[in-house]
Amino acid sequence: MINFDQKKFEQLQAKVMGNAAGAVGLLMAYIGDQAGVYRALEKIGPCSHQKLAKEANVDERYLREWLSSNAAMGYVGYNAEEDEFALSPEQAALFSHEGEPTCMQGFFQAVVGQFATHELAVNTFKTGEGRAWDDHHSCCFCGTDRFFRPGYAASLTSDWIPALTGVEAKLQVGAKIADVGCGLGSSSILMASAYPNSIVCGFDYHLSSIEKAIQSAHREKLTNISFSQVLAKELPGNDYDLVCIFDALHDMGDPVGAAKRIKSVLKPGGTFMVVEPLAGDSLEENMNLLSGIMYGFSTTICVPVSRSQEVGLCLGAQAGEKRISKVLKEAGFSKIKRVAETPGNMVLEAIA
Ligand SMILES: C[S@@+](CC[C@H](N)C(=O)[O-])C[C@H]1O[C@@H](n2cnc3c(N)ncnc32)[C@H](O)[C@@H]1O
Repeated sequence: MINFDQKKFEQLQAKVMGNAAGAVGLLMAYIGDQAGVYRALEKIGPCSHQKLAKEANVDERYLREWLSSNAAMGYVGYNAEEDEFALSPEQAALFSHEGEPTCMQGFFQAVVGQFATHELAVNTFKTGEGRAWDDHHSCCFCGTDRFFRPGYAASLTSDWIPALTGVEAKLQVGAKIADVGCGLGSSSILMASAYPNSIVCGFDYHLSSIEKAIQSAHREKLTNISFSQVLAKELPGNDYDLVCIFDALHDMGDPVGAAKRIKSVLKPGGTFMVVEPLAGDSLEENMNLLSGIMYGFSTTICVPVSRSQEVGLCLGAQAGEKRISKVLKEAGFSKIKRVAETPGNMVLEAIA
């Protein structure tokens, strides 16, 4: 019998306690985000809870309790002498600055979306059945988009596309782009805005995501973009100069079939850009907090989404470069290389 080490137990207990506090903290952060409280607090500066309740138009008593939780967690500042609450510049950057890479609200929303359907998650896990993207809470779709969009905005047209061999010049002159598994269309919209002479076709098999993507493109008044509901392996059209998949190849049931189809619709010498979550090639290399989170999302989202589709390869969100490259090779691509990476993503180029 192995001895019970009280010290190790207490260290683990303290860590898990921190995680439990984080779970409640994320829910509080999400409530504050949806009710506009962080934004109101940043706007009016240090204030009493009564004043903030008026500004944010929320119930005063609930707000007091919410602020108390946030203050105890360190999410907002508290001045006991004045009985006032405030957001520091750092807290504002993280909780209130929507659209900036520092803002983590999209991430929180994606987590909340998983808790919102916890019964389905348990059932899927126990039965081993697949679970389609559509069987998730709407927070999963919005949260995923909010989570990934700032990273794409920061890198896609400034770093990733320029890193591809000879692609940027083609897009500037006018080229044909497909964005497969485009979700709510943020990456497509970024490319259509940056390359007005090019045409961007966004595809996803999830109808409500496609409907939202169409609305966003209308809001941006873009005329060089279209969105259609389609399975990746049935991708329509031909003669694409660039086909991209952002954080979605590993979700597909048949990523090899999808990549084969992509190869067949690319122009000779055309480029397939695969953006995937950054990961090492083995679990041993992925012993870090971000991978822990991604394997978690993968347990409830990515692997079951893949299993719900034909083939059901179940790559998972931490497949790593070697495994993704193997998929591309099986699809017939031979020239594959990693051209860029960020703390969250790796970017692979495969030439048709
Ligand atoms: C993690 S989300 C990424 C969405 C988007 N690319 C982004 O980065 O925000 C994965 C997307 O893949 C889509 N998807 C999954 N399997 C698909 C398939 N076989 N064909 C087309 N889209 C698929 C889902 O509907 C979902 O929108």
